[in-house]
Amino acid sequence: MEKYKHYNISNVGEVVTLSGWVSKVRNLGGLMFIDLRNRTGIMQVVVRPENEYYEIASNLKNEYVIEVTGKIVERESKNLKLETGEIEVDVDKLVLINKSKEIPFAITDDTNALEDTRLKYRYLDLRREALKNNFVVRNNITFAARKFLNDIDFLEVETPILCKSTPEGARDYLVPSRVNKGKFYALPQSPQIFKQLLMVSGFERYFQIAKCFRDEDLRADRQPEFTQIDVEMSFVDEDKVMEVGEGLVASIFKEVKGIDIELPLMRMPYVEAMSKYGSDKPDLRFGMEIQDISECFKNTEFGVFKTVLEEGGIINAIVVKDSADKYSRKDLDKLTDFVKTYKASGLAYLKYQEEVSGSIFKVMSENEVEDVKKTLGVENNDLVLIVSGAYNIVKVSLGQLRCKLARDLNLIKPGDYKLLWVVDFPSFEWSEEENRFMACHHPFTMPKDEDVDKLLTDKANCYSKAYDIVINGYEAGGGSIRIHDEHVQEVMFEALELTKEDIEEKFGFFVEALKYGCPPHGGFALGLDRLVMLLCETENIRDVIAFPKTASATDLMCECPNTVDKKQLDELAISIKEK
Ligand code: AMO
Repeated sequence: MEKYKHYNISNVGEVVTLSGWVSKVRNLGGLMFIDLRNRTGIMQVVVRPENEYYEIASNLKNEYVIEVTGKIVERESKNLKLETGEIEVDVDKLVLINKSKEIPFAITDDTNALEDTRLKYRYLDLRREALKNNFVVRNNITFAARKFLNDIDFLEVETPILCKSTPEGARDYLVPSRVNKGKFYALPQSPQIFKQLLMVSGFERYFQIAKCFRDEDLRADRQPEFTQIDVEMSFVDEDKVMEVGEGLVASIFKEVKGIDIELPLMRMPYVEAMSKYGSDKPDLRFGMEIQDISECFKNTEFGVFKTVLEEGGIINAIVVKDSADKYSRKDLDKLTDFVKTYKASGLAYLKYQEEVSGSIFKVMSENEVEDVKKTLGVENNDLVLIVSGAYNIVKVSLGQLRCKLARDLNLIKPGDYKLLWVVDFPSFEWSEEENRFMACHHPFTMPKDEDVDKLLTDKANCYSKAYDIVINGYEAGGGSIRIHDEHVQEVMFEALELTKEDIEEKFGFFVEALKYGCPPHGGFALGLDRLVMLLCETENIRDVIAFPKTASATDLMCECPNTVDKKQLDELAISIKEK
């Protein structure tokens, strides 16, 4: 089979046969103009009244399948936006191959059909050019990834889908076993355990384009089943893994978009990312860093700030440049509501215009007003937004606010990409729900050398050899160096308060494997769907998955999940509990 041909003005005079779908039919003074759509795009074809196929052409409707043969001619009125916009096919022969039912929504890129309707008829929605192009990008990304990794001796290995629960931290999707009644498989949240086992097997360099399943709350960048480019390697340290990771991402950007990414990527410790951007996935496409102004208020008479500082809290600010005049009281009330959704108690503001004003201006001394101005480097017409309170609440709410303001004020240039590694993640995070420290990544993540001795005594200050690759505020991937030392692993389990029975039951087979000459190893996984989203510049993960689920994890086209026959349930020895 040959590659598809793409026609343009240089093909004038050639006789071609094209097949595809009727995208549009227009009758202009007797001439029938048909837009024929296929994988390569749109071609205008024209059928003249004297043509023996004119009758068929007159009865064509949108989405009918046709084949035309004719000569490529230069168009009279050109459309330079289309690849084929300077030419058309003067039809000799037209065959109606198949009819179509009336379609439930028009297939155009500026569609305003409801997303639910489009998901129900996903196979029609996928006929849209913009959506189809996302899958070209997706294909090019996986192709570039396979090439990059294959060229440096990584082996592509598939791992099971029916497996035992993996410790990634989300809820598992379970599959009941018919043969082993009352027992369940779990779908993999990632191939984590298997790829580490492949290192024990001596594969040394593995990768896989792997389906992963997580039963968690869905968001615009999260699906219950998604795909990772999953990589693992032996005899490496953090630097080596990050070198491969960023090399892979850079080669994808180059191959797919022709964009040169400067390497090595910047590395930012987690603590710094949280402090300056209130997020472990900072968006660096715009400034507005979070700054600490607690010092300016050390002698404050203002009760709220005074109490916050006495209680060990902080006062932080972001500066919105040249925007004091853009925000009314009402706008600022809306921003206050916004930060409250991130648990902030309120939002104070100062407008540094010819005269200073703002919600806390009256309770500040002249010195404080000046001090804040100096500390923040404020200029005329800058708006200062302030949150006070507990560290995490202040950082996260201002971090979210800076992203919202950047969107509202159009501070983000389309096509701009800012990549970085966030490194040195904490080993543990405190779980209010469980009232104990839990693993930040998974229990096999290697602590920093200097923190191994603190695993049992100072969990809040233990950091790990873990890293995330962040692109434009998205966590595009993450990974770590794994523990290969049996003793460190035991201490880690103890730190996570896992009993011998827990360990045995959850991953006893895995811990056993680590005892048979396990090489030092580490790896990472890129979220393929997120990478496609970023390169397609869409914020909706459904735009890059052929048959996605809704926010409530349903497939509107297949109508699943759904009930099953009683017979099927009986075979599995399962009965459904009435509520
Ligand atoms: P992690 O859980 O960080 O790491 O996942 C890796 C990357 O996968 C993407 N991702 C998702 N994409 C869409 N929908 C989801 N529900 C979803 N969850 C995660 C993100 C994320 O950065 N086993 C480790 C990797 C390792 O340590 O090697 C893991 O799965 O882009």
